[in-house]
Amino acid sequence: MRILLAVTSSISAYKTPMLVSMLKKQGHEIICAVTKNAQNMVGVKALETMSSNHVITDIWQEDDVLRHININKETDILLIAPADANIIGKIANGICDDAISTIACAYTKKKYFAPAMNTHMWLNKATQKNVKYMIEELEYELIEPESGNMACNDKGVGRLAELETIIKKITSNDNKYQNIKFTITSGATKEWIDPIRYITNNSSGKMGASIYEEIVSNGGISTYIEGEVNTNLNIHSNDKKIKVDTTKQLQEAVLNELDNTDILIMAAAPLDFRPAVSYDKKVKKQNLNSIELIENDDILASTKDKKKKGTLIVSFAAETAETDDELKNYAVDKMNRKNADMIVANKIKDAIGKDTNKITIFFRDGRYKSYPILSKKECAKEIVSIAVEEWKNKQQL
Ligand code: CTP
Repeated sequence: MRILLAVTSSISAYKTPMLVSMLKKQGHEIICAVTKNAQNMVGVKALETMSSNHVITDIWQEDDVLRHININKETDILLIAPADANIIGKIANGICDDAISTIACAYTKKKYFAPAMNTHMWLNKATQKNVKYMIEELEYELIEPESGNMACNDKGVGRLAELETIIKKITSNDNKYQNIKFTITSGATKEWIDPIRYITNNSSGKMGASIYEEIVSNGGISTYIEGEVNTNLNIHSNDKKIKVDTTKQLQEAVLNELDNTDILIMAAAPLDFRPAVSYDKKVKKQNLNSIELIENDDILASTKDKKKKGTLIVSFAAETAETDDELKNYAVDKMNRKNADMIVANKIKDAIGKDTNKITIFFRDGRYKSYPILSKKECAKEIVSIAVEEWKNKQQL
């Protein structure tokens, strides 16, 4: 795992070179960032030496002027340890006035914070309110401070969690999808009318990308098949990315991967039709009055006799349904037609153009699970976790 360790100002910052050393021994790669104040407690050179990486102290000193954004792609998790009251206040209020607060504001992957401060500062109502906001609204996982003697001679809660506790927390889920092979499809396909014009579906690829990130950060291996997307996903070196254009190419890529797939997650929006004729040369507009369409294969249906025994198929259904019953009818019919094991359904109005979604997952045996409005990232977490559970059950049959 590639860990971005952000060190802020608490006396316990002196422990962070040791934390880096312990994480490196477990095979993790560490990039450190340290605030100006924390440099009174721990040396930049110590962190640099232990991590074998350049330490971020000021975004304006970085060679890459967009490092605070690009660090998202270079790392898998953000760990703020120790997190002082100041950084907690800044993050909870969206303030970006130094390297760490700016990086945190732009960070989209898994985020942890391990607070450390004097008991009164920890129990201060403003700190508690900010901590709650970070957990509930900004999706940070808290690594609770511990009780005991403090450096300031007070006794109480506020000590940085033991380094072993921090490591256990950030690595506990690390490998839960290890040894499971996923194929994920994402984005829209295109069908060409001529070299300049095409028809397509409306799909950003965000759900497929969130699903990939959830899998990779938990040790799963994936083939990621991507059509037209608005995402900029960094693929892990263990994984494979296949870029496709048309529905036929997507179908070929999916079928080629089936021998090597335990769970197929079909989040892509393949175009159902293609022009009967695709012209080699640009057609003059006066010659293009109508386009005859022919139907493409249904990719999921075509996997029926080709997938290996035990492969789990996850389908999606975004519908313009008005009621929950209407959504259920469309989704269950689709799941059965496509021979999928489960289908993730949502109403289009709940998802398009939003960072949130409201999904219901239907299963072949009539079970279903409805969720409240969740961020697309949380939806991805639920979908992958349920799919893995169902896949494991399928192996028992
Ligand atoms: N899908 C597929 N092959 C296609 C079209 C869609 O495998 N040619 C998959 C999608 O990736 C998705 C699921 O089928 O997982 C549902 O897609 P959707 O477009 O809603 O299904 P359609 O069968 O095209 O139904 P509709 O009539 O609603 O367009």
